[in-house]
Amino acid sequence: MYVDITQLDPQQIYITLTQTVIPRPIAWVLSENANGSLNLAPYSFFNAVSSEPPLVMISTGLKPDGRPKDTRENIKQRRDFLVHIASVAQLEDLNASSATLPAGESEVDHLGLTTVPLAGSRLPRLKDARVAFVCTLYKIHNIGDNTTSMILGRVRGVYLDDEVVGHDSKGRRQIHADRIHPVGRLGAGEYVDFGRMIKLKRPA
Ligand SMILES: Cc1cc2nc3c(=O)[nH]c(=O)nc-3n(C[C@H](O)[C@H](O)[C@H](O)COP(=O)(O)O)c2cc1C
Repeated sequence: MYVDITQLDPQQIYITLTQTVIPRPIAWVLSENANGSLNLAPYSFFNAVSSEPPLVMISTGLKPDGRPKDTRENIKQRRDFLVHIASVAQLEDLNASSATLPAGESEVDHLGLTTVPLAGSRLPRLKDARVAFVCTLYKIHNIGDNTTSMILGRVRGVYLDDEVVGHDSKGRRQIHADRIHPVGRLGAGEYVDFGRMIKLKRPA
């Protein structure tokens, strides 16, 4: 089957892309609302895009009422945010944090999640997350007719739970993927647990 994307409506295109670009990492983004409360939401249009400078990207759509999502507005206004990598054990909370709450209401409070201070960050991190990137806004690139915003964040530091950090045979720091135990997003309401690891040497 060949699918001519030009013949699909935006919802069909969304379904086609998100059910084939899989599995996707999920950014669990914490930002600060205008009233100082903490906003939390998952974004799976997410990836690392460069190491010089160190940048990550999320892309945000619009709320059901047509306004920009709170994460975008918060990052635009206050510039700093955290990206957590959620473990499989956090999937229920991650999913619940995607509910559309009125602007200014905190998903962190709503879900009773615990945060702890993080050195190098004005914002606290989720206590149970094993990885958290401290980011500041690098650039917002509006896409199409401004329905989507690609947000680039410059990574200032990374919190790593000691549990996930080890060393390789040369004594270099090695972060153990299986100990992060990340959850990945598939299409629709499907997710993937951390699966079988395959080790492969790159050709010279
Ligand atoms: C796993 C998952 C991934 C998501 N990824 C995105 C995404 O990449 N872009 C987006 O606009 N919304 C995405 N959403 C929906 C947002 O999380 C949802 O609209 C949320 O209410 C936005 O919150 P905010 O307005 O506080 O930023 C995703 C939801 C889930 C459950």
